[in-house]
Amino acid sequence: MGGAVSAGEDNEELVDNLKEADYIKTKKVEEVFRAIDRGDYYLEEHRDNAYKDLAWKHGNIHLSAPCIYSEVMESLKLKPNLSFLNLGCGTGYLSTMVGLILGPFGINHGIEIHQDVVEYAKQKLSWFMKNAEVFDDYEFCEPRFVIGNCLLLPSGCKTYDRVYCGAACPPEHENYMKNLLKIGGILVMPFEDQLQQITRTGQNSWETKNILPVSFAPLVLPQKSDAPQVELPDCSCRTLQDLCRISIRRILRANVKAEKLKEGVSSSSRPKRKRKRRNRYHRRNHVRDHDSRHEADGPPNHVRKEDSEESEKEMEEEMEKPRRNPLREKIEQLPLPPALKQYLMYYRTK
Ligand SMILES: C[S@@+](CC[C@H](N)C(=O)[O-])C[C@H]1O[C@@H](n2cnc3c(N)ncnc32)[C@H](O)[C@@H]1O
Repeated sequence: MGGAVSAGEDNEELVDNLKEADYIKTKKVEEVFRAIDRGDYYLEEHRDNAYKDLAWKHGNIHLSAPCIYSEVMESLKLKPNLSFLNLGCGTGYLSTMVGLILGPFGINHGIEIHQDVVEYAKQKLSWFMKNAEVFDDYEFCEPRFVIGNCLLLPSGCKTYDRVYCGAACPPEHENYMKNLLKIGGILVMPFEDQLQQITRTGQNSWETKNILPVSFAPLVLPQKSDAPQVELPDCSCRTLQDLCRISIRRILRANVKAEKLKEGVSSSSRPKRKRKRRNRYHRRNHVRDHDSRHEADGPPNHVRKEDSEESEKEMEEEMEKPRRNPLREKIEQLPLPPALKQYLMYYRTK
């Protein structure tokens, strides 16, 4: 369930801690962890707990601990244009981070057994696409979620470049999971109390590496009352309209970047929140994903007063200023009818 790094006060601080503890290792993974605020995947009344390195369970909603997601994201070795399948995709938090790396020509599929959780994930995704400040900084591979038991995929179904399983795989389903991979593909799953990274090296060969000892709740096994098979989302071609939107946004984004370079402006338009305290962290030998510890280790309160109140206030004021969105400004300047501009902006209002 985590507790391997100290709690953060916000998403930035959580990511700083994961990085310092060497759970987040690469720039790409760091970027997407910063881009997606873990708190946005919590119910508002539980949000305060989102920045602790702990798993969270509420009814059918279940998020794994941040240290586990960091290891998973690193082990998946994601790249643009790959196909990804998330088994037990839950709230869509991980799938959304993955979508920021895959880009518009990837495939991002998820299967989740609970209908209410799929509805929750769809709401969170729609909020992200409509409101998240970072949306226009990325080319996104929108996740597609289906309801069903992920152990009921038809034999000979589509295979993927990357597969993650968010619950412990029962031993008798090991081969089923491995066969969801394309040759050269990578599967990350909890198996026999280890988070494993499995690479398919040939038609009948796989290489397995243990990444971290973990304890995950097991996958729910199929019941007699379940539908006999679960259909994966289809991989239909993109429409010409959609392809045009991707190309136009790509060109405008490149123009923004070139102008910034010319002006000598840094690519980050917002200051990074200053660290409030020194992090303490430690790795645990065994990371639990589903027990009920409530408090992560935190520093004593007096350490938090390190920063002067004045600089903290300045930082807060800076953070509250409306953020410029140069891509949006470029779209607004195009000689196009308003409806087309709206389409190019994904109907976002800011
Ligand atoms: C730890 S959560 C994963 C959360 C997810 N990674 C996220 O980003 O929110 C495990 C998920 O697996 C789902 N699950 C368990 N057994 C399943 C099965 N047989 N088929 C599909 N989903 C399953 C659970 O309902 C739960 O949402």
